[in-house]
Amino acid sequence: MEAFDRTGTGSVKWARAGAGRIALGLADMDLPGPPEIGAALAARARHGAYGYTVCDPGGRELVARWYRERHGALVDPEWVLLMPFSARTALRLLLTAAEPDGPVLSPTPEWGGFEQLCRVAGMPYRAVPLELGDDGYRLPVAEFAGAAVVLLSNPHNPSGRVWPREDIRALAELAAGSGGLLVSDEVHGDLVQPDLVHRGLGLRHTVAVDAAGQLARHTVTLNSVGKTFNTSGIPSCFALVPDPGLRERLVTVMAGYGLWEGGLLPQLVQQAALRHGGPWLDGLLALLAVNRQLAADTLSAAVISPPEASYLLWLDATELGLPAVGAREALLTERDVELSAGTDFGAAWAGCLRLNYALPTERLQAALTRLHRL
Ligand SMILES: Cc1ncc(COP(=O)(O)O)c(C=O)c1O
Repeated sequence: MEAFDRTGTGSVKWARAGAGRIALGLADMDLPGPPEIGAALAARARHGAYGYTVCDPGGRELVARWYRERHGALVDPEWVLLMPFSARTALRLLLTAAEPDGPVLSPTPEWGGFEQLCRVAGMPYRAVPLELGDDGYRLPVAEFAGAAVVLLSNPHNPSGRVWPREDIRALAELAAGSGGLLVSDEVHGDLVQPDLVHRGLGLRHTVAVDAAGQLARHTVTLNSVGKTFNTSGIPSCFALVPDPGLRERLVTVMAGYGLWEGGLLPQLVQQAALRHGGPWLDGLLALLAVNRQLAADTLSAAVISPPEASYLLWLDATELGLPAVGAREALLTERDVELSAGTDFGAAWAGCLRLNYALPTERLQAALTRLHRL
């Protein structure tokens, strides 16, 4: 893949890094997305009228087809809510609609959104530390008993861990047993790396599918084309909500904020991605597998939990010769490389860094050389 320059595009990732640095921080990709998305946007832009737009119910069918073809999963189109806003917003609205009458729990480290959303919503939040085994992070499933809501990042941001199928089912059973809700945030879920499927971890699954029948009603699966197809600047996501009552409450909460399903650009992007993006995604996954191997091998001593999905690598900064406090700043000033600070994932993680390897391999190699000189 040739060099891809984002200069002049207003990229937050590169603005944060600053001139002369290589940005491996924020979770978007330094790679162009599927050409069909750009073509669809360009074609629509030519029309000139951008007024209120109806929600195309065909979008629900596209989501169901995507799950059938890419995940071998049967999703009822009726479950699908097509949301013209970010996954973060969807989670916030979902928390309001779910009206939890107890604590909201999530495993930590976590991507930073869950705790913040609960704090802003005034809902009691409790972090459940992940266990670190010989082969990486493990979910301490029993610790989630009694939660009103479990917020799970699956695959896990920041480590790229894919949670085992039986753990997901056990969490759904706990939720069903106590009248709770398991929310599986799967915005990295289409980036599970195919060369790792042999581990038999249930890599091709969704919560909603694994937890059929009554169990499914205690789950919500959240997904988006944002991470998968590099479209996060045009926020959109979709939720699979099998419980019709919760679905209705969520739609009502959305309307209370002047938000309705569809949206002009969000549904255009979503449909182009889901209709045409499959072959492009296969190519992306092949590139990410190469980059994953390169980054994980080069930095092996510092890798906390081996990556299995997305484009994220969770690192112990001290193993890179960096200070446990201020590791990101030290890297920026001494090596001209930007990674995400561990504290973005909770105050306890100051000694960690997250590296994003979704960029052309040559540039990743250059960044790793700078990192390795430490
Ligand atoms: C697990 C997870 N959920 C949600 C988000 C935010 O997605 P959005 O930009 O659609 O709000 C991120 C972004 O990094 C994420 O990693």
